[in-house]
Amino acid sequence: MKLSSFAYFAGFGIKTVLFRKKDPILGTIILTDKCNLKCKHCSVNNITAVVHPYKQIKKEMRQLYDMGIRILFFCGGETFLWKDGEKSLRDLVTEAKKMGFLIVNVVTNGTFPIDLPEADLILLSLDGNRLQHNKIRGDTYDIIMENVQNATSDNICFYMAINQINKNGIRDVCLKAKNMPNVRAVSFNFHTPYPDTKELLLSPREKAVCCNVIAKMMKEGAPVFNLKSAFPYLIRNSFPTPCHQCVVMENGKLSTCGRCIEVEGLCEKCGYFFVAEYTLLFRGNIKIIFEMLRTYLKYI
Ligand SMILES: C[S@@+](CC[C@H](N)C(=O)[O-])C[C@H]1O[C@@H](n2cnc3c(N)ncnc32)[C@H](O)[C@@H]1O
Ligand code: SF4
Ligand code: SF4
Repeated sequence: MKLSSFAYFAGFGIKTVLFRKKDPILGTIILTDKCNLKCKHCSVNNITAVVHPYKQIKKEMRQLYDMGIRILFFCGGETFLWKDGEKSLRDLVTEAKKMGFLIVNVVTNGTFPIDLPEADLILLSLDGNRLQHNKIRGDTYDIIMENVQNATSDNICFYMAINQINKNGIRDVCLKAKNMPNVRAVSFNFHTPYPDTKELLLSPREKAVCCNVIAKMMKEGAPVFNLKSAFPYLIRNSFPTPCHQCVVMENGKLSTCGRCIEVEGLCEKCGYFFVAEYTLLFRGNIKIIFEMLRTYLKYI
């Protein structure tokens, strides 16, 4: 991370903690909900299957930038399906950087060739070992591994949503992240139980076992892009929700925290690690602040 970006984020953090401000810093734009997969745990694919036009996405980017947001995520649906005439996902990332976003990340299912060196991180979903991943995501593991191997840059971070199907696959994903040259890290979430995927939710006891495995893998040198100090809060779901420093924009509609904010009762069972990490950080949790500094400077 550039020193100037670090200074900007440090200033934002200090102001937020001291004055209990609720201004956002992290924004996600949903490029489309169209997707080539239909994963077992996912409730947000192919609801409209509309690919939002370049002009609209650019306007949304400008709106987020003007609100003070400096960390931008492009998400979907499948982001690599996005295009508008000659414009591709790569143009969106370049445009975002030009506009002044300090960190620009893309979330993808990894089933398309990866040529996106302009992104700070490519969060690529890998949901366990080959068997577990394919059970959740269809027969895609091998093509994803091939795409990761052939990627033109080393800015990939595996992204695993831990649920009842893959809860024993954490170690495998950590080892892949450690051993593949193009992979910088791995980041985890627990399954967030939308009404149609409730059965995949982990109990607090199961979450504790998973956190122990992640902590052990961290100790053994696995590049985990999460904060260990947030684990106790994630296990008990005792972190504050929603995260006021995060917003999501989908088809012109701005929501605080996630597009899931409107699902009744979901925040109490939220499994997203970023929510725990950011809300604790901005409440001034000292352990989280120091661990966040170390982790972010290492991987971005
Ligand atoms: C909705 S997908 C969109 C981007 C891309 N299609 C992908 O799969 O990475 C973004 C991330 O959300 C995760 N996800 C989907 N449903 C979830 C849920 N109910 N709880 C936690 N994570 C979830 C996916 O596994 C994926 O890592
Ligand atoms: S690839 Fe992503 S958007 Fe598509 S179904 Fe799977 S999790 Fe959902
Ligand atoms: S806290 Fe609520 S709105 Fe935010 S990601 Fe979790 S479930 Fe979604």
